[in-house]
Amino acid sequence: WPVPEVALLSRGGRHDDHMGNEIDEQPVVARRVLDALAPSIRDGALWNRLGLPPVEEIDRVAVLGCGTSLHAGRALAGVFARVGRIPTRALTASEAAHEVWEPRTLVVAMSQSGETADVLRALDGLPSGHGTVLALTNNTASSLARRADAVIDCLAGPEIGVAATKTFVAQVLTGACVALSGLSVSGRADAAVLDADLSALAATPDALSGALHAWRDRAADLAADLVTASGFLFLGRGAGLVYAAEGALKLKELSYRWAEHHAAGELKHGPLALVDAGTPVFVVDDGDPRLDVDIAEVEARGGRVIRVGERALRVGGLSLQLPRTGPSWGPLETVVPLQLFSRELALRLQRNVDKPRNLAKSVTVA
Ligand code: G6P
Repeated sequence: WPVPEVALLSRGGRHDDHMGNEIDEQPVVARRVLDALAPSIRDGALWNRLGLPPVEEIDRVAVLGCGTSLHAGRALAGVFARVGRIPTRALTASEAAHEVWEPRTLVVAMSQSGETADVLRALDGLPSGHGTVLALTNNTASSLARRADAVIDCLAGPEIGVAATKTFVAQVLTGACVALSGLSVSGRADAAVLDADLSALAATPDALSGALHAWRDRAADLAADLVTASGFLFLGRGAGLVYAAEGALKLKELSYRWAEHHAAGELKHGPLALVDAGTPVFVVDDGDPRLDVDIAEVEARGGRVIRVGERALRVGGLSLQLPRTGPSWGPLETVVPLQLFSRELALRLQRNVDKPRNLAKSVTVA
């Protein structure tokens, strides 16, 4: 049989599976997105090119999607909220029918395939006069693109692995570029946060490759240690929470182990009862000093804490917190160790990492 051309694209990397190669490709994808979009952020050119209304005419932003795309949408919502102080919400597309819609809403529909039925149905159910729909997708010829007022390509290139990896990074960065572009020419933007975000954007490809280098072997060792664990907790706070959610989703999809994510502050309101000797607890560190207390609570019960995205300096046993400098979309590079770990664990458990059981790349039934 001829090998489909598309299948060759993510081969040629160091791994036999597409997912491993797609994880490795993320710094290149980030660079591609920034090369294409970053030069037109500052003067609002990117926003205007999409034909979006001025930010002053938008009262709220509603991001909707499913699975990993919804997580990318949550990260994007953080940009509108933190830089522009615009009220935002992130909606599970299959629940959008229960929402109350208001005019002057920017609806950002996120879907790498552009064919997810729940997303299409959510858009079809919007009342007239709800506002503008922006589609953020990896397929600009998709059914989603045809339903939207404006379309932006997230430029990830073909993604073969069912569990999304590089499209997540691409969606977060593309969305951030678009949002920062609109906000940069609006009186609503917090100039200091905007400047910090623009610097952080430029540093993203290096941050992603740094995470790949730092965690490749560590993730494999950790998977060997934790291969018998039956469940995993993922904790985060603020902008880090969405990465905890994505880590838990990846782990479920790939390893078929139970994984939950929680706001770390909720630990004491229930999830702490799950923590026993050796329970693996991933903590996404966005620099919030309160995470030290959450970690101490887990460790006091014998839980095994795996901290990703550490911004804390540890000197002589003391934890000195650095000032919070994270971008408004959160610590994107922390997704890398979480992806690597999920894949390594799944390989040890002899799962098919490119095609997990019961899942499909594009779910076209609602
Ligand atoms: C399926 C996949 C997920 C994906 C979700 C949304 O459930 O298994 O990995 O995140 O669809 O897909 P979309 O194409 O809309 O981003």
